[in-house]
Amino acid sequence: MITFRTGRKIPAGAELHAVGVCSGHAGERPEELDWGVLDGRGFEAKAGQVEFVSGGDRPVAVVGLGPADEMTTAVIRRAAGSLARSAKRLRRISVSVLDAVPEDIDRLEALGAMAEGMILGSYSYGEFKSEHKPNKLETVVVIGPGGRAVAAALEQGRRVAEAVCFARDLVNEPGGSLTPARFAEIAEEMAEREGLEVSVLDLDGVREAELGGLLGVNRGSEQPPRFVEVCYAPDPEAECRGSVALVGKGLTFDAGGLSIKTTAGMMTMKCDMSGGAAVLGAMAAISAVAPPVKVTGYVPMTDNMLGGDATRPGDVLTMANGKTVEVLNTDAEGRLVLADALSLACRAEPDAVVDLATLTGACMVALGPKVAGLMGNDDAWVDQLADAAERTGERVWRLPLPGDYKSQLDSSVADMKNIGGPHGGALTAGLFLSNFVDDGIPWAHLDIAGPAFTDSEDGETAKGGTGFGVRMLLDALVNFEPPSAG
Ligand code: BES
Ligand code: ZN
Ligand code: ZN
Repeated sequence: MITFRTGRKIPAGAELHAVGVCSGHAGERPEELDWGVLDGRGFEAKAGQVEFVSGGDRPVAVVGLGPADEMTTAVIRRAAGSLARSAKRLRRISVSVLDAVPEDIDRLEALGAMAEGMILGSYSYGEFKSEHKPNKLETVVVIGPGGRAVAAALEQGRRVAEAVCFARDLVNEPGGSLTPARFAEIAEEMAEREGLEVSVLDLDGVREAELGGLLGVNRGSEQPPRFVEVCYAPDPEAECRGSVALVGKGLTFDAGGLSIKTTAGMMTMKCDMSGGAAVLGAMAAISAVAPPVKVTGYVPMTDNMLGGDATRPGDVLTMANGKTVEVLNTDAEGRLVLADALSLACRAEPDAVVDLATLTGACMVALGPKVAGLMGNDDAWVDQLADAAERTGERVWRLPLPGDYKSQLDSSVADMKNIGGPHGGALTAGLFLSNFVDDGIPWAHLDIAGPAFTDSEDGETAKGGTGFGVRMLLDALVNFEPPSAG
């Protein structure tokens, strides 16, 4: 864990001092740096570029921040992530962050983003390594004015980043280890630690609640399902603008069921609970950001296996809201468990609902590995989430929910089937979910199949689970305005 402190000058014990530099005019180059050397090494101050040069008492890390007029807190976060990764063998470093940051960027937000980037960039998953060599960074001294507001911004950045790392740990734990029971246990421990209310349904509870989608997906598994609900309520003395439901897909492993996946297709399917991890991650830091809304997280948990009594293609499930679904492809299971979770979320009549799910390969085909698809029935609510994502450096892109595509889900034996036609799969998945959102409730859906998991490291992103969604959810909750009915 990294501790942040502030100081007026570089402490004697610092093993490295880091300075941010913008690209562009030569006049903006800090004089004290050896630009002959930096130019010789091809340092262009591109965002996230890090170069080490010798300084007086200690080496200096020169950290590129890109063009000053393009700088955002996302750039600062990314650059801090690169710095943390480059300095992974050092324990104590100091950084001068704000000198190169333009005046129009809020100082406290810049410091918060720096703290987040340092923690996220130093993350690695070592649970199953005999010799894990974690990042050694322990203390970061931020050179510049201190005070309560600065300390609070750094602390909030730390709390949010630790919550993202919590989500990453959940995603990175293999499917055979993170069973639904263990996933729920970790959620309960987190809730207890954070003073949040939590309830967990086991197999009997799920049967009693008639969660037909979750039961249908779980039928092929030896591992019983769980359904987790975690609640946060603002301080009764503080402002409360309404209530928001967060719903996350919690497939601890997706083999595809009887519509079995290929070997390659299954390889990363421990990540199929990333939506649930994002919801629990957001709940893990919710008291630190104290949003002015009541928040309830819903996470249905199961794996999707091929046991002897697994749901067969053609089987019909009766969902929590009474609608029936003909399952024609057991690999389109995320929408089945989300359907029940959305129905339950709507029963509480929240002012807005958002779900996050690694739902379709089609969304990855459309938007690639780094951008999530964002859909919904209420422009104001969808815009709030898109604005939040913009601020937190998580990339989303709006996709439509064309009403006339809904007929692709028509079934001859049930109210609907669980797959649409061969094209536009991200949209038909979204349309399927819309059947389980009650009229008048603003709802947004994030298909995070692309950005939830990565095999490359870059800026604040480490290999494996990314924790995508945690930051934007927290930001959207803090800035929540009740949208009109959808
Ligand atoms: N979990 C997968 C989607 C996925 C794919 C997530 C790749 C992350 C990376 C989901 O359950 C699934 O298998 N979807 C099917 C739906 C299809 C059968 C309609 C898909 O996308 O192929
Ligand atoms: Zn699937
Ligand atoms: Zn899945």
